[in-house]
Amino acid sequence: MNRHPQIYEGKAKILYATDNPDILLAYFKDDATAFNAQKRGKIVGKGEINCQIAAHLFRSIEAQGIATHYIDCPAVNEMRVKSVQILPIEVVVRNIAAGSLCQQTGLALGTILPQPLVEFFYKNDSLGDPLLTRDRLLLMELATVEQLEILHSKALQINSILENFFQLCGITLVDFKIEFGVDKHEQILLADEISPDSCRLWLIGEPDPNLRVLDKDRFRRDLGNIEDAYQQVLARVLGVKE
Ligand code: TMP
Repeated sequence: MNRHPQIYEGKAKILYATDNPDILLAYFKDDATAFNAQKRGKIVGKGEINCQIAAHLFRSIEAQGIATHYIDCPAVNEMRVKSVQILPIEVVVRNIAAGSLCQQTGLALGTILPQPLVEFFYKNDSLGDPLLTRDRLLLMELATVEQLEILHSKALQINSILENFFQLCGITLVDFKIEFGVDKHEQILLADEISPDSCRLWLIGEPDPNLRVLDKDRFRRDLGNIEDAYQQVLARVLGVKE
């Protein structure tokens, strides 16, 4: 595909314009970062794997009635997406305690939460993506009250779709981060990506707390075999008969 102007470069993707102003092309990079880009590396083949996983998950979510920015994949590491204004909010849904929830609350790693927990973080690297309260979010006008309700309810629906889907893959969905955007019709679309970069995924039936990790925690925590883990998630996702 001939290259159009680059309109944005993030840590894991580059967005290009296309001939159609309503459509962007997302190129998935092999670059990996963690801890607000203090740790940097490359995961060979990650761009292709994440693009394919995200495409599959977006299609499943869309099939269950939730609008996403996904259109199609013209190449294995390229996705055409609807152009949206990304809301500067990282929406995290957790089913099991891990990561910053454990660090900030003292909950033990692996604690099964009585119900899914939805959290909002401010997407702002220079501030270190801080956890937001509802009132701070509204004070900063990051979203309207109505948008916030929509984000909350869509996040829970997406969690239930993904949890069921990953269960069929033999994987526990521990938690994940999603982002939403607003299109030219003021509709809220699920955007960005859903991949082992943005989810915690544990292999069902593997008791070893390090061996079970199939996501970016392998990179964050130097657990090794990162490419194999990502490849395994892709194989399992593609293997699901729905
Ligand atoms: P956390 O436990 O570090 O807050 O992460 C929660 C989930 O969000 C986890 O699945 C990893 C994902 N995540 C991102 O996708 N991007 C980020 O910048 C961070 C901090 C977490």
